[in-house]
Amino acid sequence: MKRIGLLTSGGDCQALNATMRGVVKGLAANIDELEVYGFMNGYKGLIYGDYRMLTAADFSGILTKGGTIIGTSRQPFKLMRVPDANGLDKVEAMKQTYYKLRLDCLVILGGNGTQKTANLLSEEGLNVLHLPKTIDNDIWGTDMTFGFYSAVNIATDAIDCIHTTAASHNRVFIVEIMGHKVGWLPLYAGIAGGADIILIPEIPYDTEKVVEAIEARAKAGKGFTILAVAEGAISKEDAQLSKKELKRKIESRTHPSVSYELAEKIQKATGLEIRITVPGHTQRGGSPCPYDRVLSTRIGAAAAKLIMDGEYGYMVGVVNGKTKKVPLAESAGKLKTVPVDAQEIREAKRIGISFGD
Ligand code: F6P
Repeated sequence: MKRIGLLTSGGDCQALNATMRGVVKGLAANIDELEVYGFMNGYKGLIYGDYRMLTAADFSGILTKGGTIIGTSRQPFKLMRVPDANGLDKVEAMKQTYYKLRLDCLVILGGNGTQKTANLLSEEGLNVLHLPKTIDNDIWGTDMTFGFYSAVNIATDAIDCIHTTAASHNRVFIVEIMGHKVGWLPLYAGIAGGADIILIPEIPYDTEKVVEAIEARAKAGKGFTILAVAEGAISKEDAQLSKKELKRKIESRTHPSVSYELAEKIQKATGLEIRITVPGHTQRGGSPCPYDRVLSTRIGAAAAKLIMDGEYGYMVGVVNGKTKKVPLAESAGKLKTVPVDAQEIREAKRIGISFGD
């Protein structure tokens, strides 16, 4: 008999359901009795005891279903030790819910912030497994997170669609791609979509270099240019600012995002017509791609094995193509950024893609 709790926390992605299905099917196929408690809307459900008992039927037909059947919410890690409006100690409350339901384990699906709270609960003595979800692919200790390739597909489709209209009108187009701190998604979608310029947070851009790259294309007879710009792309000047100064600048920005600010500068420097497209949350929506369905199923099944073996306190990642248990204490609080000398970047530069540096 096993009693497990499931929760999904932070921004959603396409393969959350597929992963939970992997966990539950992996357990149900191997043990006689299984009770599954789904905590509603992330850590909120665990804090306030809002849960639903789930049956095998809940996990049927959800491999291809995006979103999460148990809902999600953002509950910042830094506020976990801060009592709620009614003075409730959230960490104690989560522990109480866990002990009241006599859970053998909590399986927590989420990104970096979620992982920090998972680690905190593990340090508090709960049996915890963390499964790495995010379209950003920025979790340290795993080569891949589920959600990433589904989002790459959508962002690439967006760039593909822009290509035909950009070419017809001879315009400069900016496609703004998700990724506040880390640029894996704009990097991969940019390369896959044949963007001419890719700007990511890890490589502060020089506006003059961006303009030069656009003008060089025009000189070479290419009437249009496509830029894949991370929502967290940052100029060389802004990269010099302190954290506080940058925060203040962003808060007082009159442009909706970095793309609009950059577009204005490019327009002034070149006189060219510029358009901006923001696929936004479509990148997190819809059905998981086949790669993510396989990854999620594998991660779910590997988590089920750890539960059967009574091994807790890990994230289940994938390293060199193999599922791997990574101690939460090792991974929590670290970000997997794009190395500025990543092979992908060097190769992209070799075919003439500009990173604005
Ligand atoms: O963490 C995933 C992510 O989609 C990031 O790429 C993006 O910056 C952020 O979430 C958007 O958050 P929200 O859905 O809260 O607007």
